[in-house]
Amino acid sequence: MSTLPELNRVHQADALAFCRSLPDASIDLVMTSPPYWGLRDYKAQGQIGLEDMAAYIDRLVEIFREARRALKPDGSFYLNLGDTYAGSGYAAETSNGRRAPLPRKCLAGIPWRVALRLIDDGWILRNNLVWHKPNGAPHSAQDRFCVKHEDLFFFVKQQRYYFDLNAVREPYKPSTVKRIKRILEAKTEFDPARHKNDASGSRKHQSPYQIMINTAKRYEKTGILGKNPGTVWPVSTSGFRGNHFATYPEALCRRPILASCPPGGVVLDPFSGSGTTGRAALRLGRSFLGCDLNAEYVEMANQRLREVIP
Ligand SMILES: C[S@@+](CC[C@H](N)C(=O)[O-])C[C@H]1O[C@@H](n2cnc3c(N)ncnc32)[C@H](O)[C@@H]1O
Repeated sequence: MSTLPELNRVHQADALAFCRSLPDASIDLVMTSPPYWGLRDYKAQGQIGLEDMAAYIDRLVEIFREARRALKPDGSFYLNLGDTYAGSGYAAETSNGRRAPLPRKCLAGIPWRVALRLIDDGWILRNNLVWHKPNGAPHSAQDRFCVKHEDLFFFVKQQRYYFDLNAVREPYKPSTVKRIKRILEAKTEFDPARHKNDASGSRKHQSPYQIMINTAKRYEKTGILGKNPGTVWPVSTSGFRGNHFATYPEALCRRPILASCPPGGVVLDPFSGSGTTGRAALRLGRSFLGCDLNAEYVEMANQRLREVIP
């Protein structure tokens, strides 16, 4: 039975080999951003991203199968992936591995191709979150809209899993808080007759009215007030001045870590890059385990982790 490698550091390793070396059911949360298809040369032998599209997807599915084995039964997996236009960047030289190649300028749809394959491989997809970049860089293209978002898929291993919604609730508008307080003062009870008239007509889902009453009751009992943050997450890209070009912002990691990793749990990032996931995990009182193929990035990431180790 293997044991976990040294925690709170990034190891120099290939993602598949590293995930294979992890003990079963030892990780609470996987959060990562692998190289996007055909976009960058990370200058490391064995790197992912420059093979054809079909081989790229196969490799990711295999790595995340090993990550799933290493994940605890109630653990979660957040995958950030950007898309690529066929014929651009390295995707110009990289065959896309299809019998009928994608036409030049066609968005390859990589994030959803990967997500669907992961579902087929046994993952349960809970949300397709949209990372909206309010300060996303402008693009020179004059014949399409400028891309200002990336996908963030939230997967789990089984139907019941760790999820702390209260840790990530967003403040309500003052008018909603007032309404909730009024409901409590009036001691309003849930009225099934009103629920029947709910426009959604759905019996399975609570009506907005019932949700409001339940929210008021929860507030009365626990003092916890705030709304579910929803699936579109505006997070500005942060200028990273180190020697790495594809970092995501630490703020993007906050919600997944707070909601899906218990305090003191272990967060894994098998494509650690500059160590962003690890910094967020350590700052939030979780442990971290990472790997990256590129020795320079590993050194930089460990330096950045040392800055925040409590
Ligand atoms: C998009 S970057 C990750 C950036 C990271 N989220 C951050 O904020 O710094 C992808 C990383 O995957 C690494 N990589 C590429 N192929 C790999 C492989 N086979 N195994 C492990 N790491 C690999 C690259 O060196 C690069 O640092």
